[in-house]
Amino acid sequence: MARVLVLNGPNLQRLGTREPTIYGSATLADVERDLVAAAPEGVEVELRQTDDEATLISWLHEAVDTGSPVIMNPAAFTHYSYALRDASVLVTEAGLPLIEVHISNPHRREEFRHTSVVSGVATGVIAGLGVEGYRLALQYVAGRIASAGGA
Ligand code: DQA
Repeated sequence: MARVLVLNGPNLQRLGTREPTIYGSATLADVERDLVAAAPEGVEVELRQTDDEATLISWLHEAVDTGSPVIMNPAAFTHYSYALRDASVLVTEAGLPLIEVHISNPHRREEFRHTSVVSGVATGVIAGLGVEGYRLALQYVAGRIASAGGA
């Protein structure tokens, strides 16, 4: 059984009521349900959220130690957390995919959102496709797991 960590940064527990014109009406629990339903056999999805940078970094360390692919929406940390970028490097250098997901398209928004310090070290980035981006990321990661012969 391969475990995929779906990690979410600050304020994302407010999905559903947080700026719905930007982020839509789905909650993080809806996202989790959708991903669990979409996960192919042999792939387990574990979704987590934290407002705390240190916790998010420790989860990336855990991904390295347990060989878990990562789907991550770093939320506002995206734009300034070099510590998160450094921890993300550890994941990809371990040969594990790390897909950066954004519900909105930050490039269509305020200028400070145009910079991602994570994108340059992520395996790939999905942005602007709503919460469907998480499912598309899972589809890619599941394909990588399958081509590696499972986990
Ligand atoms: C976000 C975009 C970020 O700029 C913002 O700080 C978020 C959510 C997104 O999913 O669109 O919290 O990562």
